[in-house]
Amino acid sequence: MDVTQLMFRDDILRGERILVTGGGTGLGREMAEAFIKLGATVYICGRRQGKLDETAAELMEAHGGKVVAHACDIRSAEAINAMIDAIWADGGALTGVVNNAAGNFISRTEDLSINGFNAIADIVFRGTFYVTHNVGTRIIAEKGRCNFLSILTTWVWNGSAFVVPSAMSKSAINAMTQSLAVEWGRYNMRFNAIAPGLFPTKGMSARLSPDGQGANSRMEAHPMNRHGEMHELANLAVFLMGPGAEYVNGQTIAIDGAGYQASGGTFWATLQALGDEEWTRMRDMIEATNQKDKAERG
Ligand code: HXC
Repeated sequence: MDVTQLMFRDDILRGERILVTGGGTGLGREMAEAFIKLGATVYICGRRQGKLDETAAELMEAHGGKVVAHACDIRSAEAINAMIDAIWADGGALTGVVNNAAGNFISRTEDLSINGFNAIADIVFRGTFYVTHNVGTRIIAEKGRCNFLSILTTWVWNGSAFVVPSAMSKSAINAMTQSLAVEWGRYNMRFNAIAPGLFPTKGMSARLSPDGQGANSRMEAHPMNRHGEMHELANLAVFLMGPGAEYVNGQTIAIDGAGYQASGGTFWATLQALGDEEWTRMRDMIEATNQKDKAERG
């Protein structure tokens, strides 16, 4: 990311302690970079220790400050509890959590197994709740404060063909955002979400556009003829996480250049025409990526 495009003063997040789930790669890494550049202490978690360590080292080298990496699969509530214990022991309570970790792949719903559904729902739907619940209960007990931001998509408003487990799970997190904004507002916690359009990352492209079909093929029909730039997303994330926006609560804000208004922001148009052969080829490509990632988890 071009950090010179950040619109905030350099110390705006000083004193903040922010966990970014899935912070080793993709959008999580970009937001982590903005937070550390603007003075926060940043914790990142993911499933690949090597990748996390690399990211933490690179961000500290570039910007100074402190980034701490934790290997943690958010599908496990026990693993989350151990990580949050370690974070609390390392300087106290978190003041911010970005629920960014996700799993997704394009598939015809009739081709999904129960395991395939669970692979996504366990990360996005259950894992996001586990993290939020673990941190939230500690904040209530300690009378602290915390700011939660979840990374969703515009599909939370209209669903999305060919990514049904993701659309269902992210819609549930949209409901969590609205519900807890009300219930836990009195405990100095607030809950917002960002619904990004297309911000290409390696993990997303490999699973949502393995063949150039799907996610990355939507740009000709886009009102601005382009995808999002990382600093644009980071600026919105900092605004929502930073001081001065406290009265923004319970909101899901799209950042997609009006792609949602133009075409619903889904992959229906490009994917509905594909046949068995193309789906098989894409599935093989996606599963090869999954296996490669798995090998790096150790
Ligand atoms: C059908 C598939 C499949 C595919 C996997 N499965 N890929 N089924 N089509 N393409 C099935 C497998 O066959 C298996 O079921 C089950 O899913 C679990 O597969 P594993 O490989 O064992 O899963 P796992 O290693 O746990 O990996 C989880 C994952 C993977 C979700 C499948 O994609 C992942 O780790 N993703 C993390 C990164 C990521 O997805 N980033 C993109 C996020 S984009 P069986 O029955 O065979 O056991 C996003 C929104 C973007 O979130 C919005 C853009 C607008």
